[in-house]
Amino acid sequence: MPARLRPARRRLGAVALTASITAALLGAPALTASAATEGSGSSALKALAARSGLKIGTAVNTDQLGANARYDAITRDQFSSVTPENVMKWDAIEPQRGELDFAAADELVAFAKKNKQLVRGHTLVWYNQLPQWLVDIGPSLTKQQATQILRQHIRDEMGHFKGKIWQWDVVNEAFEEDGTLRNNLWLQKIGPDYIAKAFRWAHEADPKALLFYNDYNIEYGGPKQEATYALVKQLKKDRVPIDGVGFQTHLDTQYDIPDLQSTMQRFAKLGLKTAETEVDVRTTLPVTAVEQSAQKAGYSETLQACLLVKACISYTVWGFGDAYSWIPGVFPGQGAADLYDEQLVAKPLYTSVQTVLRTAKGVPRR
Ligand code: XIL
Repeated sequence: MPARLRPARRRLGAVALTASITAALLGAPALTASAATEGSGSSALKALAARSGLKIGTAVNTDQLGANARYDAITRDQFSSVTPENVMKWDAIEPQRGELDFAAADELVAFAKKNKQLVRGHTLVWYNQLPQWLVDIGPSLTKQQATQILRQHIRDEMGHFKGKIWQWDVVNEAFEEDGTLRNNLWLQKIGPDYIAKAFRWAHEADPKALLFYNDYNIEYGGPKQEATYALVKQLKKDRVPIDGVGFQTHLDTQYDIPDLQSTMQRFAKLGLKTAETEVDVRTTLPVTAVEQSAQKAGYSETLQACLLVKACISYTVWGFGDAYSWIPGVFPGQGAADLYDEQLVAKPLYTSVQTVLRTAKGVPRR
């Protein structure tokens, strides 16, 4: 497992224990794929989520969009918000310096508009998926040059989409697991206040967009969550225009399910909105019945947490089909993390999400 996504601690609960006992005694039989009935109309995920004002979103792979009718239909019918999985990242929109290419992202924004969906913009300031020209010149940049390049990027991209983006992930993954700021190009060249600066430039570029800090493993208590809390508290104190914190929520059945209800409530008390922005629940393949129930718990509990926290305005899965998931490529031997299987048939996980939404009566409206 790459260090970048290693969760804070091992699952201590009964499920993992049962899983290992089952595996030892029974040889971990593979689960035969079982299909679930997909909801439509008033029982589609987006309709059920709308009853509490929650937006339910998905990351979208724009290679599939427009090319795969079933993929389009699920994206359109089940979700009320979309996030470009890759095409708003810097390497995608400015492959050559000064040559902006918004074509793929524009298509997704048009799809969303046509289907009355909101868009989460992802992401402006990150250490990853930078264009090669920037990686090449990075080490030789002065502070002034780096500042100018980052400000220009935010202006270019947010200016292009002005008025069309609901939430923007302005800064993504700025912390290490130990709570220190990640030693990225922006920290090296601009210094720690690149974060506050980015939010100020973002607000200037699109004053109506909700501006988010987004990260992984901050769902769990520990130094990374504490550092994030301290950062956003300071930003609020300094009147930096930040609106929310995004909890990526990439879970793995071998670890604890985080207590996102109390965590998001804690951040909400600072006057911030929250969102679960990249939910998936990976597991070691092949999936056993025990692991599948752990996956159901992962989706259900994180969704319940969002429903129970009024400040949690969206719950977004990081793709819905196992065939297009990023997991197998990054975590060898793992997968089956999504609500639909490789053939885009709804899995029992889908039903779990649907049931949580259906039975969520009396949760605060947002
Ligand atoms: C991932 C995409 O899913 C992959 O297709 C791509 O190759 C790498 O990036 N955290 C994030 C997302 O903020 O942008 C990442 O998306 C997954 C982890």
